[in-house]
Amino acid sequence: MKKICIVGGCGHVGLPLGLVLADRGFEVTLLDINKTAVDLINSGIVPFQEEGAGELLKKEINKNLFVTDNSDVVKVQDVVIFITGTPVDEHHNPKIHEVLNVVEKYLPLMHKEQLIILRSTIYPGTTEIIEQKLQNFFGVQPKLAFCPERILQGKGIEEIQNLPQIVSAVNDEARKEAAEIFSKIAPKVIHLEPVEAELSKLMLNTWRYLEFAIANQFYMMVEDKGLDFYKIFDAMKEDYPRAKTFCKAGLAAGPCLFKDTMQLSAFYRNQFFLGQSAMLVNEGLPNFLVSQLEKKMGSLKNKKVALLGMTFKANNDDIRESLSFKIKKELEFKLAEVLPSDPYLKNTYKLDDVLADCDAVILGVPHNEYLNLQINKPYVDCWNVWK
Ligand SMILES: NC(=O)c1ccc[n+]([C@@H]2O[C@H](COP(=O)([O-])OP(=O)(O)OC[C@H]3O[C@@H](n4cnc5c(N)ncnc54)[C@H](O)[C@@H]3O)[C@@H](O)[C@H]2O)c1
Repeated sequence: MKKICIVGGCGHVGLPLGLVLADRGFEVTLLDINKTAVDLINSGIVPFQEEGAGELLKKEINKNLFVTDNSDVVKVQDVVIFITGTPVDEHHNPKIHEVLNVVEKYLPLMHKEQLIILRSTIYPGTTEIIEQKLQNFFGVQPKLAFCPERILQGKGIEEIQNLPQIVSAVNDEARKEAAEIFSKIAPKVIHLEPVEAELSKLMLNTWRYLEFAIANQFYMMVEDKGLDFYKIFDAMKEDYPRAKTFCKAGLAAGPCLFKDTMQLSAFYRNQFFLGQSAMLVNEGLPNFLVSQLEKKMGSLKNKKVALLGMTFKANNDDIRESLSFKIKKELEFKLAEVLPSDPYLKNTYKLDDVLADCDAVILGVPHNEYLNLQINKPYVDCWNVWK
């Protein structure tokens, strides 16, 4: 079986992929600069919430799965997969150099027979730029593929094996080899050209971000008029199939949706008005929720506000780009005392304690632990779990 190295292998996307590939019999090495994560995974501990990862790790570690921060492992691989972060900068433009720098760092250890797979969510045209870099270094066209990851964070192990895999490459050899690997783990392979595949992933995330934005815009519009958004929402959806996917309001946060919408906006010379508007709406919801509480309470000065759920999504421990922190900041601007609580995070207060101690509550993220609470203080719940 092929030897596969995953650069960024201890991350939220790298680890589930590595585990599934190892489980299919590939010899997988996770290479990562995060020494803490390397040590944890080597000792059998999954560093973040990921369903089914613990069992697979126990089964595969030091059998088909190896974890290291030593870059030399790159030299002996058949396949090198790159899955590191692809953030945007303070002007919401993609930091393409972060992607290129990672590839350049390992370039002296790579050779032209290797299949190189890019798997991060990248700005359109990045595959072509990397192809050129590799070609300059190897002196021949590289075997380079771009195969985007489309998993839902926390459900990666299951989704990698159930979702079709989009495969694109710069030539037939790379396309065939990449498709062979992914057909061992995914039910279906769909072929696109690299720039099409790059756009497909960005458009999917953006579309999701816009779905949340329209729900959030309606929520704010209706609640601002003193009306009950969810009374209308439930009536609109009841036995009406075309509204099945109409989603609830909620904080649209996390490391992907916002930045990928901004990547797409940058790609269209910042003329992507719908994407920019979605960003304004989604990023404005935290301020709106605080103003809703202010309306109920009068001044928030010196009030103790319990903020339940600090992660970016429910039933997960990831705080990257969580909008609960924006709510916290806004409350602090109002001179409120914030009591953050989250069962997935150390260094936050216990639920019972904050509920007993607070004057009011804002629901940041609807973890399962909160669904059946009886709140007998003023609260704001844009998710409608405390109906
Ligand atoms: N998180 C998701 O659910 C998800 C889903 C689909 C796609 N993506 C995309 O996948 C990419 C990675 O996201 P993520 O959530 O896994 O990020 P992450 O931060 O969890 O993981 C990235 C990993 O790369 C490592 N790394 C950084 N530089 C490195 C280097 N030079 N050498 C070796 N390792 C290095 C980091 O230490 C980290 O462990 C992004 O482009 C993201 O948009 C994420």
